[in-house]
Order: sequence, then C-alpha cells, then structure tokens
Amino acid sequence: MLKINNLKVKVDNKIILDNFNMEIETGKVYALMGKNGAGKSTISKIIMRDKKYNIVRGSITYGDIDLLKLNTTDVARLGFFMISQNPIEIAGVSNAEVLRASLTDLGRPVKNILKFNQELVELCNKLNIPKEFIHRDINFNMSGGEKKKNELLHLLVIKPKFIILDEIDSGLDVDSLKLVAGIIKEYYEEYKPTILIITHQENLLKILKPDIVNILENGVITLSGDYALAENIFKNGFQGAHIITGSDKSE
Ligand SMILES: Nc1ncnc2c1ncn2[C@@H]1O[C@H](COP(=O)(O)OP(=O)(O)O)[C@@H](O)[C@H]1O
Ligand SMILES: [Mg+2]
Repeated sequence: MLKINNLKVKVDNKIILDNFNMEIETGKVYALMGKNGAGKSTISKIIMRDKKYNIVRGSITYGDIDLLKLNTTDVARLGFFMISQNPIEIAGVSNAEVLRASLTDLGRPVKNILKFNQELVELCNKLNIPKEFIHRDINFNMSGGEKKKNELLHLLVIKPKFIILDEIDSGLDVDSLKLVAGIIKEYYEEYKPTILIITHQENLLKILKPDIVNILENGVITLSGDYALAENIFKNGFQGAHIITGSDKSE
C-alpha cells in the first residue's frame, strides 16, 4: 500500500497541498479527478520524487519503504512508472537505446537485440504507431498523441508495478483513446499492477472502471467513492456531485 500522510507541498513559495492524505491499495485501480489547478499533477510528481516539489511536512510510504528518502531513479527501480501530462522530449537518445539501458538496470538485460527489436515492432503495431518509432529519439518532434503512445510503448516493455497515468487521454484522438484504454486494461488484467489514473475523460474511465474514485479540491480529497461517483461527475459536474452526495464540507 502507498500511504500519503499529512503532506504539505510547496513550489516556488506557493503551498499547493496541505494536510493531504491518500491511501492506494496494491493491485487496485484509482481515479483522481478534480478541476484544473487542483493539484493532481503535483501529487503524481511528488510520488515520482520530482525535486522541484518541496515537501514541507508529512510522509509518503510504500509498504515499509519511506519514499521521501528516495530519488526518482530509486522509485522507478521499485516499479513505479509515470506517463506525465506533458512527456518531455529527449533528443539524442532513441527509444530502443533507453529501453535496453533500463532493462539492464532492472536486471533484465536484452540478450538478443534482433528478437528485442522484433518485439518492439510488434508493440508498435499494437499501438498503431510506425515501427520506425523504435529508433526515434524519445518523444522528439512527436505529436501530443504520439508522445502518449510512445510512453505507453516504454511502459509495456518495462512492465511496472505501480502506474501513474496523468491525463494520458490528452492529445489522443477518439480511436487512439479507445485503443490505449484497451491496452491498459489488458495490461492490468495480465499483471495486476496498481494504477492511479488522472483524467477528465469519461471514455477512458468507462473502459478502465476504477475501483475507487477520489475528488481533489484545493489540495485535499473532498469526495471518495466507486465508479458511480465518476459517472455522477460526468453528468452533474464537480459542484453537482457535491450537492447530490450531500458532502460539501464548505457548507
Ligand atoms: N512548478 C510550479 N511552479 C509554480 N506553480 C506551480 C508549479 N507546479 C504547479 N503549480 C501550481 O500548483 C497548482 C496545482 O497544479 P497541478 O498539480 O498541475 O494541477 P492539476 O494537475 O490538478 O491541474 C496550480 O495552481 C499550478 O499553477
Ligand atoms: Mg495536471
């Protein structure tokens, strides 16, 4: 289980989260929803130990591991993998190169490069991206949707245990969204990772059917429920969901 306790986070002297608590059970699918600027991406970045986000107080533990003592590389080695809202471009390093280096680091070195490249070609076919992508520089000059698929290619090779998808839907066309959601669902059914999905997209959650839906407002979780809560929000908006569940703490 991942446990975030009483967390206070500051960036550039601005407090983004305060008294933030969240628990994520291993092997379950969580959706994190909330208005723009609520702090959703901040949560994903602090879990991945982005050093720009200054932890003023609180704790993040994963089982008996103190995540706040680890850096991003250590967290990735534990099996964490984030597809960020805006994947960065890395010129000069190809997908195939970084994936081989990552697998070596994870103790699963590629022994047969031809076979490995063939596997990558098959994954490109599955993701409906050109097979030339395997030798392209990481996300470099790719469209928004292509970047998301390229990141998913990495995920399918690395096989993480704890997956954070921060608006994976943004940039994807309707067909690609369906394809990507189906691939993530298939991965979940095969490997049963823990998944935290940040999204505004009904079409994505319809397919991935989260076990738990949390609503973030002003840096704290104000509503929590099952998939019905997400359906309620798609229908009535964030404010409407409060009125219907009768749980608006500001009233
Ligand atoms: N590096 C940063 N510098 C300054 N402000 C930031 C930074 N990162 C996030 N913020 C601010 O923190 C708030 C939460 O941002 P974010 O976590 O990206 O929200 P969300 O993903 O829910 O839309 C926003 O008001 C945003 O402008
Ligand atoms: Mg965000």
